[in-house]
Amino acid sequence: MTKKNAVGYTHKDYKMTKDFTLTILPGDGIGPEAMAEVRKVIAWLEENRGFNFTLHEDDIGGTAYDRYGVPLADETLEKCKTSDAVIMGSVGGPKWDEVEYDKRPEAGLLRLRKEMGLFANLRPALVFDALIDASTLKPEIVKGLDILIVRELTGGVYFGEPRGIEDLGNGQRRGVNTQVYETYEIERVGRVAFDLARKRSNHVTSCEKANVMESGKLWREDITALHAKESSDVTLEHMYADNCAMQLLRNPSQFDVIVTDNLFGDILSDAAAMLTGSLGMLPSASLGDAGKPGLYEPVHGSAPDIAGQSKANPLATILSFAMALRYSLSCGVEATEIEEAVQRVLNSGTRTPDIMAEGCTEVSTSAMGDALISELGV
Ligand code: IPM
Ligand code: MG
Repeated sequence: MTKKNAVGYTHKDYKMTKDFTLTILPGDGIGPEAMAEVRKVIAWLEENRGFNFTLHEDDIGGTAYDRYGVPLADETLEKCKTSDAVIMGSVGGPKWDEVEYDKRPEAGLLRLRKEMGLFANLRPALVFDALIDASTLKPEIVKGLDILIVRELTGGVYFGEPRGIEDLGNGQRRGVNTQVYETYEIERVGRVAFDLARKRSNHVTSCEKANVMESGKLWREDITALHAKESSDVTLEHMYADNCAMQLLRNPSQFDVIVTDNLFGDILSDAAAMLTGSLGMLPSASLGDAGKPGLYEPVHGSAPDIAGQSKANPLATILSFAMALRYSLSCGVEATEIEEAVQRVLNSGTRTPDIMAEGCTEVSTSAMGDALISELGV
């Protein structure tokens, strides 16, 4: 199919066509509003940078539950697996609080990560100079902060068996989850962390609780062995996860790349996100084996309290799309272009309510998207 863009010529007129298939999963809450702004960036790339995207849109989370009776339908999963990348909004909300556990919106996201084999979750925590006052920490502590958390995403206690809630028959119940890791799971996520550190400040901090958990002891031993075997050019430090939480608040600039398991990564990445002052700014990428599609989603949740009011900050979802360009589509130049335009929009004082500050101009979700497009120019 030949696609005509807004200025009247077709993508075939370009010398270098970049053809990609994306699955777009807006999800619940503010997800659809944020995704509408990503679509503007997609259209801009088609009009100005010779891209041609085939878009498959589908549901995930609560909206999928309402439509299909499950939070991730098989046909949706199939579309995701056959795309070049998947761009997701957010899942969850009080509407689905009473839904059975394995059909909750979050279960759809966990299944998507697992079935796509996305074992490495990259969560950058970057402090934009223009937003330095938005952090609850002192500016001198967070200035220039640039941490990358690599969270293991398909193993550990969120997936381990046995799991469940058991009735003990005496008026008591027992809830069980299992923290379990095998060497190959630790090695492959460790390898991602070392590789990424080489492109940054060459420093990896590996976090676990080797002092009290066998799975943590194995994690430390396997990371140490991998480092000796493949990555001794990178500086490696081990840290207990609770100490890491404390150090993130005390002296965050000591960190470059943090690699950790699913549970600790979930918690530490929220802490790191808050250092930056706005969860509304932070993207993430979830990657599997080379050549397989990645999943890109903002770190923030579905924010049901502001959904539908055009108050949401779309930049985290847009920056997630930029990560897709870099990691799944090998279009790092355009990714950087988008990231730099985001910086300029912030520098110009354009702000959604979550990052509003004195002397700045408060704008709606769609006005933020428009501001970004005009910064991108032609
Ligand atoms: C996250 C979220 C998810 C998680 C939920 C929504 C399943 O907290 O991406 O950090 O726990 O992984
Ligand atoms: Mg989380």
